[in-house]
Amino acid sequence: MAARAAAGEAPSLADLKLRLEGFNGCALKATAKNLCFFRGAERARLMIIGEAPGRDEDLSGVPFVGPAGQLLDKMLAAIGLGEADVHITNTVYWRPPGNRTPSPQETQACRPFLDRQIELVEPQVIVLMGGAAANTVLGVPGGIMRLRGNWRAIEVGGRTIKTLPTLHPAFLLRSPAHKKQAWRDMLAAIEALEGMR
Ligand code: URA
Repeated sequence: MAARAAAGEAPSLADLKLRLEGFNGCALKATAKNLCFFRGAERARLMIIGEAPGRDEDLSGVPFVGPAGQLLDKMLAAIGLGEADVHITNTVYWRPPGNRTPSPQETQACRPFLDRQIELVEPQVIVLMGGAAANTVLGVPGGIMRLRGNWRAIEVGGRTIKTLPTLHPAFLLRSPAHKKQAWRDMLAAIEALEGMR
């Protein structure tokens, strides 16, 4: 409730960031060093949502800047996109201690902000990085191996947006044999965007 009221009708991302800075309804804020909001374009046809900031992100206050983020940038470059073409964020805005998966309470506390962020960015396609992001954003259970590559529509602010879960780059760093599947998903994402021009 508090988050919904705070995220409300924030007129811009800058204003939403101010509201997040003043929001104390997510327990992760107490242990994090920095708020980690987004990087990339303010409006973008493609939005990337990951799980949560890690150590590098907590230190810098910027999502996906560590090793997983560097691989994410390579995955985007492989489909011809740079940082200026995408909007990159996470399901929660503060690092969970020890990089644990955020709890349902923590993701729920941040959700109204994420929904308002999606409304302001107006993406046509959202790629969900990893099982935790897919479960949170889609509200469905299940492992990423089952969810990945399957398009689902979500409704945010009266708009229908196509979402595609894929493998998290941190997982791909540990398991490079799975890059083929992630590549297939990234190609599907760019093909969908090209079909919507
Ligand atoms: N992993 C994520 O899911 N998000 C980040 O920002 C960094 C690593």
